[in-house]
Amino acid sequence: MSEERTNIEQLISTSERIGTIGSPSSTSKLSLDILGTAVDKKLVGELALFRFSQDGKPHYALGQITEVQLKNIWLEDPTMRSLARQRGQVNPVSGQQDTHLGDMTVSAVFSDDGHRFEPSILGTVPATGTSIHLATDEILDRLLELYRDEIFYLGHVYGSTPKLPLWFKHFGTGPHGAGEAYHIGIFGKTGSGKSVLAKMILLAYARYPDMAIFVIDPQGEFSKDVRGEVRAEGFPLNLSNTLSQLNKEVIIRSVRELVLDRWDLFSEILYESPFFERLSVPKGENRRIASEVLAEKLQRVHITLQNLYQRESFNRAWQILGDGNVQMQFYRTQQSRDRFNIVYQEANQNEFFNNYWGPITELFRKDRTGAISVDNLMQQTFDLGRARRPVVVIDLSREMAAGLFWNDTIQALVIKRLLDGLTYSAEGAYRENRFLNTLVILDEAHRLAPREKIENEKQESVRLSLLDAVRTTRKYGLGWMFISQTLSSLHREIIGQLRIFFFGFGLALGTEFMSLKEIVGGDPNALKLYQSFRDPHSAFDIASRQYAFMTIGPVSPLSFAGTPLFLTVYNTPQEFLRANQLLRGGK
Ligand SMILES: Nc1ncnc2c1ncn2[C@@H]1O[C@H](COP(=O)(O)OP(=O)(O)OP(=O)(O)O)[C@@H](O)[C@H]1O
Ligand SMILES: [Mg+2]
Repeated sequence: MSEERTNIEQLISTSERIGTIGSPSSTSKLSLDILGTAVDKKLVGELALFRFSQDGKPHYALGQITEVQLKNIWLEDPTMRSLARQRGQVNPVSGQQDTHLGDMTVSAVFSDDGHRFEPSILGTVPATGTSIHLATDEILDRLLELYRDEIFYLGHVYGSTPKLPLWFKHFGTGPHGAGEAYHIGIFGKTGSGKSVLAKMILLAYARYPDMAIFVIDPQGEFSKDVRGEVRAEGFPLNLSNTLSQLNKEVIIRSVRELVLDRWDLFSEILYESPFFERLSVPKGENRRIASEVLAEKLQRVHITLQNLYQRESFNRAWQILGDGNVQMQFYRTQQSRDRFNIVYQEANQNEFFNNYWGPITELFRKDRTGAISVDNLMQQTFDLGRARRPVVVIDLSREMAAGLFWNDTIQALVIKRLLDGLTYSAEGAYRENRFLNTLVILDEAHRLAPREKIENEKQESVRLSLLDAVRTTRKYGLGWMFISQTLSSLHREIIGQLRIFFFGFGLALGTEFMSLKEIVGGDPNALKLYQSFRDPHSAFDIASRQYAFMTIGPVSPLSFAGTPLFLTVYNTPQEFLRANQLLRGGK
């Protein structure tokens, strides 16, 4: 007998026995007769295991207990039932003849080939009476010894004590690589802990020096953490420290430094801004043409995007708008032009320059401190020549945009520019046979890619860019992580492209639940377990808040069968960092 086997047998024998395999059982779902000694334990969610023999080798099967039922067949008899109704209880039936049955869904099987544990399958149903034990950290460590340095922990098995072993493989080939990029989705209601989870997963990938991470951060939340502005409440994870400990170069750029570099963006932003509003041109076709014509004419007189902010450029633009021939392009009738001209003549040019022209054209200005164009940013991200590839965070928060013209639509347009940049650079790299090994994280994805066609033409184009990026860039080595409050509103095709899912609290109702069901498939017990998640904010105090997630996909050595796994995320950064040896000094 190998040493491992002795060891694991010992470990199993000292772990708690909770029941035996009962009937009926199949290779996909096992019934569990729960021992009298375990009936008053909370068993739902527990990770359990049993040993069985297959092809002459010892095997170990692991799975979560998804349901516990009580049965008392005597009390199901109508006579007994009516007795119980009259007397409250029936001795010696009530309480005495109860049986507790559990359901266990096996998610992983390991075979012991004498030297090590190898993944295997449940190809037979073990005899009834086979003992079922609770899994412990020690048992899991031993079974997964082969993968020890790949494993990453985000928390404990839902409703249980062992840590749930997960793995996040980089997209490249070589050690710890998946050999291809894949997309990840994190879903859950507001406050369910998605962003915190995403930051933890970011660190899992940041362990790989040759993997780059690109974060599109609409709320500025990641940026704050990466800058080391640790909040006092919630989950005070110091991303900055941990990333520097991992030797990751961090590049943070906010809208203050990001140089927009496309004329069509200029005309789109001009269109959205109050500039034409103040000139009495309402939103619509006329204003669209006016912004486009203006951009075109400015280019024709050799004004560059980066010089737009100068007074001269403004004067030029103003002049162009005063030109009758130009006006004819956006206002067909003399009457409209006359109306426009009255406002135009009376307008205070200084005010237009300072209040409307300036904040827009700043976005295109190159001589700001730390300025970087979108194209350069992509180059830095995708530079495979670097031994250590960076974490790039783009802070698109309103907070950072003071003095610039900024709103949700402009933010969406800038995100579109980033998406197009990513797709374009990825295609370029592909032509040169380079595989990008990059994860792109996009928070608040539901705002950008709703399922219904968006009325606003510009937002619609953002949605299409996103779809296009998701569809095409995977083969170039670009994987995406979407974080979204809703499942039903994210475009179906995007959902269809995701390989790994995390579902937090809050999708148990209505259309959300329907969408969840579609993804999880037939397993009703998994859905029931998911429905048992509580709103973290309903906890009595902050310390007892629980952030639970269901995960599906090839994210754990405990789920090669693709069955959902359930976890409770660590609720302090210390615990998380310690579990993954990320504390400074390895404490
Ligand atoms: N595992 C955790 N342990 C302790 N606190 C947490 C945990 N996860 C989240 N929190 C806290 O709960 C609050 C909400 O978390 P988070 O911002 O991650 O939610 P969210 O799902 O991203 O919400 P939204 O959709 O509104 O962005 C934050 O204050 C956060 O610090
Ligand atoms: Mg969030």
